Amino acid sequence: MRNIDSFTHVRGESIYLDDIPLTEGTLFAAVYDSPIAHGKIINIDISEAKKSKGVRGVFTYTDIPGENQIGGIIADEELLASSHVHFAGMPIVLVVAATPEEARAAAKKVKVDISPLQVITDPREAKGKNELIVPPRTFRLGDTSSVWKDCEYVFEGKADSNGQEHLYIETQGAYAIPQENNSIKVYSSTQGPTAVQRCCSRVLGYPMHRIEVDVTRLGGGFGGKEDQANAWGALCALATHHLKKPVKFSLHRMEDMRMTGKRHPYSSDFKIGLNKDLKILAYEATFYQNAGAAADLSPAVLERTLFHCTNSYFIPNVTATAYSCRTHLPPNTAFRGFGGPQGMFVIESAIAQAADELGIKASVIQKKNLIATGEEFPYGQKAKSEASDCWNKAVEQYSFEKLQMDVDQFNRENFLYKKGIAFMPICFGISFTKTLMNQARSLVHIYTDGSVIVSTGAVEMGQGVNTKILQVASKIFSISPDKVKVNSTNTSRIANTSPSAASATADLNGKATMIACETILNRLKQVASDELKIAIDAISIQDEHVYVKGARSELDWKKLVMLAYVNRISLSEHAHYSTPEINFDLTKEKGHPFAYHVFGTAIITVTVDCLRGIYEFDSVKVVHDSGSMMNDFVDRGQCEGGIIQGIGWMTMEEIIYDTEGKLKSNALSTYKVPDVYSAPKIIDLHFLQNDKDNLAVMRSKAVGEPPLMYGIGAFFALRNAIMAFNSKSRPKFSAPMTPEKVLMNLYEKKKVVV
Ligand code: MOS
Repeated sequence: MRNIDSFTHVRGESIYLDDIPLTEGTLFAAVYDSPIAHGKIINIDISEAKKSKGVRGVFTYTDIPGENQIGGIIADEELLASSHVHFAGMPIVLVVAATPEEARAAAKKVKVDISPLQVITDPREAKGKNELIVPPRTFRLGDTSSVWKDCEYVFEGKADSNGQEHLYIETQGAYAIPQENNSIKVYSSTQGPTAVQRCCSRVLGYPMHRIEVDVTRLGGGFGGKEDQANAWGALCALATHHLKKPVKFSLHRMEDMRMTGKRHPYSSDFKIGLNKDLKILAYEATFYQNAGAAADLSPAVLERTLFHCTNSYFIPNVTATAYSCRTHLPPNTAFRGFGGPQGMFVIESAIAQAADELGIKASVIQKKNLIATGEEFPYGQKAKSEASDCWNKAVEQYSFEKLQMDVDQFNRENFLYKKGIAFMPICFGISFTKTLMNQARSLVHIYTDGSVIVSTGAVEMGQGVNTKILQVASKIFSISPDKVKVNSTNTSRIANTSPSAASATADLNGKATMIACETILNRLKQVASDELKIAIDAISIQDEHVYVKGARSELDWKKLVMLAYVNRISLSEHAHYSTPEINFDLTKEKGHPFAYHVFGTAIITVTVDCLRGIYEFDSVKVVHDSGSMMNDFVDRGQCEGGIIQGIGWMTMEEIIYDTEGKLKSNALSTYKVPDVYSAPKIIDLHFLQNDKDNLAVMRSKAVGEPPLMYGIGAFFALRNAIMAFNSKSRPKFSAPMTPEKVLMNLYEKKKVVV
């Protein structure tokens, strides 16, 4: 089944925040944001801004009736700066005017006198000054210190990965509309409607029931709108509170890039020890996370780095420590993979370095150490599947031996073009690592004409979750998909939602929808049983008809629904689901945090033009552990998009802040994301389908984040191609591997004789 949004998307009819028809009297917001990264505010002068054309209100922190605070995990982030600014782009003054242009013109007239303070942009420097967001965390398995002596080979190194701009097509924004009795309705481009509701309530000092948040869909989120949509919602609500008028704020691209946080850059050290048979006996890693100026979601992201620090491998002795380092960058935040990819890049770097030094292929070490059923992750949970299932299938499905031979032959026959090939196995835990967030609710109504409407806490952001939820209702009731509609996500219909994140949205909200539908279905079967005077066990509903012992009866879906209504039987249900069996003990750093793991293996091949340093990915060939797939179109879309986004992070997307903490890559002219021309020529996807797990909806498996990590293989494929050209080159583990870096590495220590 196609994504249900595909029709309105191609016709330009899909509603995003900026498409919501404006209510009469709507005003527009803009902010004056800090031009410097760190400083003490001496004076805020809004007199000129107030006199500017069209201006209806200018607000500072003194106008906040509730708490001037938007920090979720830690209360360390003001909505509007009061005494200090701690990143360039931090909002200081909110300006509201009759048009967006007038609001922005007036914001330019704000004068803020800031006395500069020292700026830190480097996480290791922050750690050195003990500027930590939270105390460090350490995950341990076995005892690394005692096994180094048993290792035949020990290697140490460093691996750095850069941030990543979310670049959702729809920028951040919100639209607040006053309601009666001092309530406010907020339309928000958010992954977390409840987070926006809670934030508005906190800033205004309103009880949550006076704030209603509604989300139809997002033009992409990728984690960037998990927490960082809150500020814009709260700013609009603040202006609406004071002016009693609808207020809208839709950020321009450069405002969004400047003011919002990104994927966390990490700098990491590793030490890896192997025995003679290339089994990894010990692994130590120290992660320095560049958190930016405030906690945001950094502590949770840090935790997932530790959870995924051994990727798909079983290593009996592990010590991994992670520091969340406070710098003066915009607070970095959730981004597809949520710290997992950063951890995986480091272990893959350690394996690559060991392979370089031993003069073997990394895949030999990778394959020998894949985790097997019953083996333990450093956090105490045991693997329930074999990572080698996907690996072996990939080798067979894609004739790896031949691929490798073709690459070797190409490299022998060509001088100025070289190919590189790399394996990238993945293993990603599914569930929010904060156990309490693993809950969801669904509200299902059947109307008397037999049509169905479903509301959940899931936010549609292009990932197809609404399509899957619609499929659940259609399948359980056994009615045509066009009899089902999925509502916008609204905090008045579904309360206390977890954000649509952690790849778990379809699982959690889909399961809640299953429960709601099954409950109503059982009532309907009882109605049919009473009507037909047949035991309920003999009743089934298929293809919009009641069947009795497998034979179609006269009673169809519509008649049955009407009969239930006439008999005063409820056609509505509000159901709750919480993931069973998950737990985590923070004092021991052990537990069973994930409902299940998603595995997979990608084989990535690249061709490098060794004269220019440019490259093309020939193919990404994947075997992906999909469970029993619910929707082939949707899951393929998630895989293809994730792979290309991962390749972008690893090879071309380069965020650059100067030493003063100012974003230099602040527009699409200076920040390059993969386009259709840089996408791999071939993406082959093979889904390893099985239905043995029933912890996701309809025995499927989550698909949102895991495929991004296949992209990590792109870095290592490039590295292998570079070393095929110049055997002396040892490219640093420093992502992204941009064409400039490729070129430098190609000619590292090499005298080229042509
Ligand atoms: Mo997603 S990175 O879990 O918002």
